[in-house]
Amino acid sequence: MKSTYSYDKLFKIGDVDPKVWSSFTEHLGRSIYGGIYDPDKDFSDKDGFREDVKKEVKNLNLGVIRYPGGNFVSNYNWKDGIGPKKDRKKTMEFAWSSIETNQFGIDDFCQWAEEVGVEPMIAVNLGTGDIRSAAELVEYCNHDHGTYWSDLRIKNGHRKPYNIKYWCLGNEMEGDWQAGHMSAEDYAKKAREAAKMMKWVDKSIKLVACGSSYEMLPTYLEWDRIIMKSLYPYVDYISTHNYNMNSNQGTLNFLSSWKQLDQHIKNTKNALNYAQSLQKKDRDKDIKICLDEWNVWNFQDIKLDSLDDLNGMTTFELTSAKKWEEHPAILQEKYSLLDALTVGGLGITILNNTDTVEIACLAQLLNVIAPITTNEDGQLLKQTIYYPFELLSKYGRGTVLEPQVTGDTQHTDYGDLPVIESATIYDSDKNQVKVFALNTDTKNTSHLSLNIANLGDLKLTKHVTLTGDDLEARDTFDEPNKVIPKDLDVADSDSNDITLPKASWNLLVFDVK
Ligand code: AHR
Repeated sequence: MKSTYSYDKLFKIGDVDPKVWSSFTEHLGRSIYGGIYDPDKDFSDKDGFREDVKKEVKNLNLGVIRYPGGNFVSNYNWKDGIGPKKDRKKTMEFAWSSIETNQFGIDDFCQWAEEVGVEPMIAVNLGTGDIRSAAELVEYCNHDHGTYWSDLRIKNGHRKPYNIKYWCLGNEMEGDWQAGHMSAEDYAKKAREAAKMMKWVDKSIKLVACGSSYEMLPTYLEWDRIIMKSLYPYVDYISTHNYNMNSNQGTLNFLSSWKQLDQHIKNTKNALNYAQSLQKKDRDKDIKICLDEWNVWNFQDIKLDSLDDLNGMTTFELTSAKKWEEHPAILQEKYSLLDALTVGGLGITILNNTDTVEIACLAQLLNVIAPITTNEDGQLLKQTIYYPFELLSKYGRGTVLEPQVTGDTQHTDYGDLPVIESATIYDSDKNQVKVFALNTDTKNTSHLSLNIANLGDLKLTKHVTLTGDDLEARDTFDEPNKVIPKDLDVADSDSNDITLPKASWNLLVFDVK
């Protein structure tokens, strides 16, 4: 089968923002403890940060890392996580039914983020937290000195303010699994007042309103319509989350679930457009989407048959954790080749929505539904989904072009879709074209034909493919290289007919002549 992608260099979707390749780490399971922070081990540095993790995170070249949650944030008091570690108290953590030791907090995260060269994006607690505490956190982090909270930061060993730019106004406040869950009207009011106070402390910050995420909730999109009507003048982004699950929909449908994400993003955009049309003053303000959680999540450690059953449950009822453990090893998903191909497809969709999605965080980064797994012996494993994400972050930069697609289609739950799903980027700095392409035909090779008007001839210089006969194959500590991308020979290639292996995700790099 064949897909033809036709472009014109002048017809652009948009420039990829560096924050499109971002991630997320939550006080959940072993994401922070055992992931980032593993004190008194010979594989960690003097501050307790794992050296192997720092190296791999640096390699991912991330835009921002969102912290500290997630569901966790909605009952978190950031003041418990500052000051001398021996004085920090243990608290009950309600989102995941754990004990939070508070040995890692905002100062530790900001220091670590600086060491790995990533900007922090911090969520404030708008569930059980009050708006004054949110403003005080901005003061603690961003005010230079001379006030109680800024001087306390200095006393805690951090002379320079962190100048954190991106702030999330709560997390998934539409769901009743969230501590302090409220109606859209109540959230809009609380978020507006928090936004005012946080910007009074530092007017340069950028704020993310908490949009709706879960399509099965009756408030989906209605929530966004209501909150954005009043929050539009106060915020800079709206968030949404999207997880794709391999249930029993069949391989082709799972591989094609990029289409669901595409629709999800467009739904949020439509709600945003509606709210924008109702504005009297801020009609021209272009609010972007912050997709601050996305990934494949197969609920291997959640006792649920489908996301539809989540409503009304608290998350701690669902995982394998025994109640009140310190950083239990929960939600440690093991990813297959098929999951990796699907993640690659989702990445392509994010690129093709780069006009509206300015921040996107792969959720999460370490151990919990994550591309990177660590063990207690100081070993680190890159899971299958690490590879498409790494290549997207490395090569997915430049200007995404607007495609016209023709060719063969396959019938899926999402309609008839092209056999190859693809995104094409023109990188004017390098005078290169970079193409990401997912062949959803699981039995046969497919052929990609690429035409770009108003650009010179293309010479293929690199073809990396992720594929294999066993879609269920996984990387493990014993066999870490079972599923890894391979470079193919590009000697005799022709941009009008590039062969993509069956069930494969591909990166193609062309020099423009
Ligand atoms: O990433 C895991 C959880 O998924 C987050 O805590 C929550 O925001 C989402 O539902």
